[in-house]
Amino acid sequence: MHLTPDEQALLDGELGPAAQKSMQILVTLGRIYGAERMLPVGSVQVAGVSYDNLGEAGLAWLAEMAAGGGQAQVFTTLNPAGMDVENYQSLGISEDFAEKQRRVLAAFASMGIVTTCSCTPYLFGNLPRFGEHIAWAESSAVCYANSVLGARTNREGGPSALAAALTGRTPAYGYHLDENRRPSLHVKVTANLTTTIDFGALGKAIGDRMQTAGAHRVPFITGIEAASLELLKSFCASIATFGGVALFHMLGFTPEAEAHPPPTEVLTITPAELEAAKAELNPAGGDEIDFFSLGCPHLTLAEIQRIARALQGKQVRKEFWITAARPVKSMADRMGYTAIIEAAGAKFATDTCCVVAPIKGRFRVMATDSAKACYYAAAKNGFVPRLLSFEDVLEEATR
Ligand code: F3S
Repeated sequence: MHLTPDEQALLDGELGPAAQKSMQILVTLGRIYGAERMLPVGSVQVAGVSYDNLGEAGLAWLAEMAAGGGQAQVFTTLNPAGMDVENYQSLGISEDFAEKQRRVLAAFASMGIVTTCSCTPYLFGNLPRFGEHIAWAESSAVCYANSVLGARTNREGGPSALAAALTGRTPAYGYHLDENRRPSLHVKVTANLTTTIDFGALGKAIGDRMQTAGAHRVPFITGIEAASLELLKSFCASIATFGGVALFHMLGFTPEAEAHPPPTEVLTITPAELEAAKAELNPAGGDEIDFFSLGCPHLTLAEIQRIARALQGKQVRKEFWITAARPVKSMADRMGYTAIIEAAGAKFATDTCCVVAPIKGRFRVMATDSAKACYYAAAKNGFVPRLLSFEDVLEEATR
């Protein structure tokens, strides 16, 4: 693998042990995947931030990198943490957990990493340009960056993302290279899609079929008539969850789609398959809901506005988390949306979400409009999911 003199100096430890360790990780990865060189990255997004996932071993690793002089060489932001840093008590997070989570965030901050704690960094400043090489870790954000923004990233793990942050480099393989961005499967959608649950179900339907169609296929999707930022965000989270997809092209909506002819192998997704996917995401049926959550991936300001309008003058009847990035909530504060939502009894769970917070077993049935949240709330937290449309979550919570 060719290294520039600067990269070799990093590997030789001339910039300290944290940078050296980082370069060792990247060179090893590059060798495994056959990379011929390193690429400079424009930004990094690090996942594995919740103490619930990291544990003491993860925290010790971060402390070691910080003590070894690790400093972010490019703009680097964080995925959600295990708690709302300012409001964890009202979410039922213990002081013991909070203390450990604060140590994790302090370690990241000491390395110059911005503790934004959100899976939608593209909503507030970590917005890569078309064609830019980046090293991101959160699967939904990776899919959004590759597919909707046209940036180039593999799905990094926690250590490789941190290594990219501390060196400003990533090995040139996978979705950084033109040849791996070409579509290989034409997905024809014959259903009409309008809501986040439609797009979440589409992500699951395609994702499930991709599992049998072979790993690392790039779908070329046609038949979609409308797709807003919010719908694409929901779709990216779902297709990444159920199909491990990090890049797709959607004709009419994503920047690289027009550059490619449709692949000859065709897979058709029918309205019946979409309904079947929704049914699978809704095993709770009519069971009583004791937890409501909106904001997977983290909400846009437009979505918070819709929540405020729906909750104005009403009361929610159960625990209800609104998950968003703190900069987006700040805008909601200014617009008065936060006050309306909190007066209705719902709680902002900023910096975190219903999946990465340490709330395993605390609720029985969780209602959400997110296919990804349905999957992980069941797999990680033991909740029975109930997939409802965005408006129906609000309606059910206030009836
Ligand atoms: Fe984000 Fe948590 Fe969903 S990290 S994509 S809100 S599971």
